[in-house]
Amino acid sequence: MENDDIERAGRLILASKYVVGLTGAGISVESGIRPFRGPGGLWTEYGEPPMDGYQRFLAAPKASWERRVKREGYAEELHEALGKAKPNPAHYALAELEELKILRYLITQNIDNLHRAAGSKKIAEIHGNFSKLRCIQCNSRYETEEISLETLPPRCPRCGGVIKGDTVMFGEPIPIDVLKICQDETGKCDCMLLVGTSAFVYPAAGFPWGVKGREGMLIEVDPYETELTSSCNISLRGRAGEVLPRLVECIKVKLQEAESPL
Ligand code: APR
Repeated sequence: MENDDIERAGRLILASKYVVGLTGAGISVESGIRPFRGPGGLWTEYGEPPMDGYQRFLAAPKASWERRVKREGYAEELHEALGKAKPNPAHYALAELEELKILRYLITQNIDNLHRAAGSKKIAEIHGNFSKLRCIQCNSRYETEEISLETLPPRCPRCGGVIKGDTVMFGEPIPIDVLKICQDETGKCDCMLLVGTSAFVYPAAGFPWGVKGREGMLIEVDPYETELTSSCNISLRGRAGEVLPRLVECIKVKLQEAESPL
C-alpha cells in the first residue's frame, strides 16, 4: 500500500464535511471471523442460506428456535468465532476517527459487536447484533440473558410478541428504527469510507450509490476488488487492520500540522 494513496485518502477525508463509514465482514477477518463470500468465505464453503429464512421462521418459530439452540452446520462455527473474537486495530482506528470527530457515523453490516467493543458509539448495526434478541411485534431488544428459553419460542415481556435473535435473517425487513438512522446519516454524507464489504447485499449496498449520486466521494479499503471499485475515488488495496491505523496516523499528523502551521 503506497503512502501516496494513504495521503490522498487522508486529504480527501479532511476536505469532506460529513464522513460516514460502512463496514462489512472483511473488517473482522483479522479478529478470526470468516467473511461470507470470496476466498475463505462461509457461503463459499456452505452455500448461501435460503433467501426465505425469515418466512420459514414465521411459519414455525418453535422449530426454528430448536434449530438455533442445537446450532448445526456453519451456525456452530460462526457462534464459536463470535464468542471468542476481539476487536482488531481496524475497529480501534474507526473508534478513534469518531473520537476525533472526523467519522460522523458508522453503519456496520456485522453482527459481531466488535465496533462497540472497540469504543464506537455513533453506530447503526443494520443486520442486528448476535448478542441481542428482538421482539418481532414491538421491536423491543433484549440482552440474551434477559429472556428465558424454557418455553420456545420465547415471548416479549412487554407485548407478548414472538422473540427472535436480533440478527436480520434473509427475507426479513430491516427494523425500521435502524433503517431510518442509516438513511438519515447516508443522506448527510459527502464521503463514505467503505471497509471490508463486497457491497452485494441491499439495502446496505445501496448507500454508497446514494452518496455517489449526490457527487459524494467513495474511499474503499479491501485487499481485493469489489462491486464498487470502479466507482471509488480511492481504493486502498490491503487488509483493514494494516491500512486503517496508517490512515488515522496520516490524518492526525495533518490535524497537528493544521494546528501549528509554522
Ligand atoms: N480487510 C479488509 N477487507 C477484507 C479483509 C481484510 N482483512 N479480508 C477480506 N476482506 C474483504 C473481501 O475481499 C470482501 O470484499 O471483505 C469483503 C467481505 O465481503 P462479504 O463476505 O460479502 O461480506 P459483507 O459485504 O459484509 O456481506 C454482506 O451478506 O451474507 C450477508 O448478512 C451477511 O452482512 C452480511 C452481508
